[in-house]
Amino acid sequence: MLVVSSASVATEVFKANDLAISNRPALAFIDETPYGRAGFFNAPYGKYWRFMKKLAMTQLLNTTQIERSRSIRREELVQLLCRLFDSAQRRELVDLGTEFVKFTNNSTCRMAMSAKVSGDSSEAEQIRALVKESMQLGSKIYLGEILGPLKRLTFWLYGKQTVDVCKRYDAILERLWKEHEESGKRENEDLMDILIKVYKDEKADFKMNRIHIKAFLQDLFIAGTSTSADVLQWTMSELINHPQMFKKLRDEIVSVVGTGTRLVEEMDVPNLPYLQAVVKETLRLYPPIGVTARECREDCKIKGYHVSQNTMLAINLYSIMRDPEVWDNPNEFRPERFLVSNNSKLLHDKNQNHENELTGRQSLIDYVPFGGGRRGCPGSILAYSTINQTIAAIVQCFDWKVGGGGDHDLEQPKVDMEVENSGFGLCKAQSLVCLPLVHFNPFAANSM
Ligand code: HEM
Repeated sequence: MLVVSSASVATEVFKANDLAISNRPALAFIDETPYGRAGFFNAPYGKYWRFMKKLAMTQLLNTTQIERSRSIRREELVQLLCRLFDSAQRRELVDLGTEFVKFTNNSTCRMAMSAKVSGDSSEAEQIRALVKESMQLGSKIYLGEILGPLKRLTFWLYGKQTVDVCKRYDAILERLWKEHEESGKRENEDLMDILIKVYKDEKADFKMNRIHIKAFLQDLFIAGTSTSADVLQWTMSELINHPQMFKKLRDEIVSVVGTGTRLVEEMDVPNLPYLQAVVKETLRLYPPIGVTARECREDCKIKGYHVSQNTMLAINLYSIMRDPEVWDNPNEFRPERFLVSNNSKLLHDKNQNHENELTGRQSLIDYVPFGGGRRGCPGSILAYSTINQTIAAIVQCFDWKVGGGGDHDLEQPKVDMEVENSGFGLCKAQSLVCLPLVHFNPFAANSM
């Protein structure tokens, strides 16, 4: 196995060898699960993967579809804010970690397949529990596979549980598929509508089967919900620990939307460079997928060394984004590093990586929270839309007290920033639990 942990090697890997490293490792346990290798995340680079990637970029996760689902994200954000206003009124501590998972999961479930998010038969609730279980099992099995000799042992330990989780996903997806077929054409197509249309299209470049579609949707839940929720939690934790940054961000929001008028919206985000810098800096320090795994499709050369076909690559996104060769004070939370000097513009607007104008060096691939190259994350635009607006709204509406201290405590305790050691993920060891204090309520009688 080859480990990539510096920006200079990452640049060579993603620029010169992108095609050569575009497979995912062929994990033995996948063949034993009901969907096998039909998923998109684990699919080898080939006809099916290319077809799905094009579909994702042109129809499923492109800007048009993200615009279409804007009202869903807003409705779910309003629900989240209402729960927080309720807790604030009752002076109740809130577990923001749990709230963020509920929020991202509900939004994804509605956007992907109009799943019910409330009531006794809430499909979103069932999917949330399954995503949690899948993440825990996935980390253990992945690690076991990579550690080689433990391969069979890990599957023996967790295999039955994994198959059981897949079957429970399958039952929900089958039920929703049936509902989609029975309900006919809906005004705002969700992802399942689009996928079923492509599935029935005789002229499609690739003939997908039912399993491909269900496996793809399952991938979206696993890849897209807890990742964004983790980033929300880390961002709020850093902002609470840096009150001046919290204030600076709130001042920026007020300068754009005014005082006591309306809730900040997704469309305001382009005018909030500091907000975007705060989120980018959080993603740099706490990438929810800390290491991404690839496999060489063919022999290649990296930094002059011969690397054989089928070699596994562990690309350490966490280390690349803390590489002291390219990042000043890499372990410090400093959103300003993403802004030009007068703070009015985002530095990494177009290209996510350091450009010549910044460093005077050759352009480096050093900012990789979403991985890189053709196998990089197709959900980054959706993730930024969700995270930016949510952080803005929460900062606009509430002050936060850690540990439930009094309103006027001068020294508020710091949020514990310990990282949970959970395989490839980068979760907070302790969920962020704190007391919301209302600063501005856009839903109060005379605010909207
Ligand atoms: C903050 C949120 C997110 C982060 C940090 C993140 C990060 C990543 C990373 C690091 C990878 C591996 C890339 C590589 O190997 O180079 C990945 C893959 C993927 N992500 Fe995301 N992701 C996020 C949200 C999402 C969302 C919202 C979706 C969709 C709804 C999504 C869908 C996927 C899929 C389908 C893949 C597999 C791509 C492939 O193998 O070709 N992700 N993501």
